[in-house]
Amino acid sequence: MEQELKTLREAALNELAKASDLDELNDLRVKYLGKKGSLTSVLRGMGGLSPEERPKIGQIVNDIRADLEGLLTARSEEFKQSALEKRLASEKIDVSLPGRRPNIGHKHPLTLTLDRIKSIFMRMGFDVAEGPEVESDYFNFEALNLPKDHPARDMQDSFYITPEILLRTHTSPVEARVMQSKKPNDPVRIIAPGKVYRCDYDATHSPVFQQVEGLVVDKGIKLSDLKGTLDLFAKEMFGSNVKLRFRPSFFPFTEPSAEVDISCVMCGGKGCRTCKDTGWLEILGSGMTHPGVLEMSGYDPNQVSGFAFGIGVERVAMLVYGIDDLRLFYDNDARFLAQF
Ligand code: PHE
Repeated sequence: MEQELKTLREAALNELAKASDLDELNDLRVKYLGKKGSLTSVLRGMGGLSPEERPKIGQIVNDIRADLEGLLTARSEEFKQSALEKRLASEKIDVSLPGRRPNIGHKHPLTLTLDRIKSIFMRMGFDVAEGPEVESDYFNFEALNLPKDHPARDMQDSFYITPEILLRTHTSPVEARVMQSKKPNDPVRIIAPGKVYRCDYDATHSPVFQQVEGLVVDKGIKLSDLKGTLDLFAKEMFGSNVKLRFRPSFFPFTEPSAEVDISCVMCGGKGCRTCKDTGWLEILGSGMTHPGVLEMSGYDPNQVSGFAFGIGVERVAMLVYGIDDLRLFYDNDARFLAQF
């Protein structure tokens, strides 16, 4: 038995010394030390030994196991070390190379446009107000002089959550909300940007779009204040050469009312496809706040007067960037958005 073990030890050490990679080492570990390995089967045969011999042979088996394990560990370290050295020799990392920049994207063209509109009005002393997109019939219509069954409601159909609650069709309800949050007749100078909803869908209309409402109320506010404010806005937004045209119009919450056109930014007013040969482009609705609207929100039209306007953000962005289909803003095509 001793002789048998000695031969086994020699053979194992020999094979381990010759192994050329980690896989071979593993195979040898299984072959000699595994559950069905040679050493284990020797141990199993110890039942037939005399009681004096047993501890002696057991000791020899343990010594062999320790020797083999020692050599296995040493050799596998050797292989790992040389694999690492090989990698270090072949992999050249130039730590002085500039890093790879992640693509971090940028603001959406509509956000860029809105930011510019906001900053122009904020420089004129306007505060920014906000109102809910899910609005009551009262603020969206009633408080703006649009009682139930008023024909002007037809132009602003929307999603109704209940007969009294809808997705707001314009930002004008914020006008009434702001006035009602103040002490009666307190001066107001706000813009209210936000999303609005209408039953509309074509190249120049989207069912969801954005407006910037404006409201100024104070003692002695005149039509000339409205014109001056919008003139300055248009020049800041589209360039100092732009001309404004006030066209009589109708809104139930302003009197008089005007639609405001700018001279066409594409052709300078000569007439082209964009302005449909008129030389003018409509960008907003406006007017002097209707006395009844002031009154309904607790203001006294004999003491104060006001003007209001509503700018279409998509419309402005289309003109600033020369885009002929509004739907491009909402398609989320990265090739389109990357251009801004
Ligand atoms: N709310 C109007 C619309 O959406 C625009 C407007 C605002 C007109 C304020 C006059 C005054 O069409």
